[in-house]
Amino acid sequence: MIWTKSLETGVAKIDEQHKELFRQVDILVDRNQANRVESTLNFLSSYVAKHFSDEEVLQRINLYPKADFHKKLHVDFTKTFKDLYAQYKSAGNKLLVVLSINKAVIGWLKDHIMTHDKEFAEFYLKKHPPLNK
Ligand SMILES: [Fe+2]
Repeated sequence: MIWTKSLETGVAKIDEQHKELFRQVDILVDRNQANRVESTLNFLSSYVAKHFSDEEVLQRINLYPKADFHKKLHVDFTKTFKDLYAQYKSAGNKLLVVLSINKAVIGWLKDHIMTHDKEFAEFYLKKHPPLNK
């Protein structure tokens, strides 16, 4: 999955974290060896948690009206990710699960960024116009 400029929200910290998420999900497929997939999944799960929490803090301190709703989207995805992780652990065909994790994570991320993160970014950038523009 290639990162494209259309996924940029304009909030530098969020964009950097999104790029890293995409990079890690790609690594998952490249590293289809049990121990490496597992360490990448572990990294992804803590990186996703950190990224979500950073976004949620940014939304709360900026009094974003949709902060609770946005947080719920994060909570729901975290649950989906945990379920996928459990599937991976118990799966016979690990590659199949790795591919479905890749598809699910990238699909969700693209959708979430394009709709919800960009909506927040628009709100945020109105309050904090970039200095270099
Ligand atoms: Fe988000």
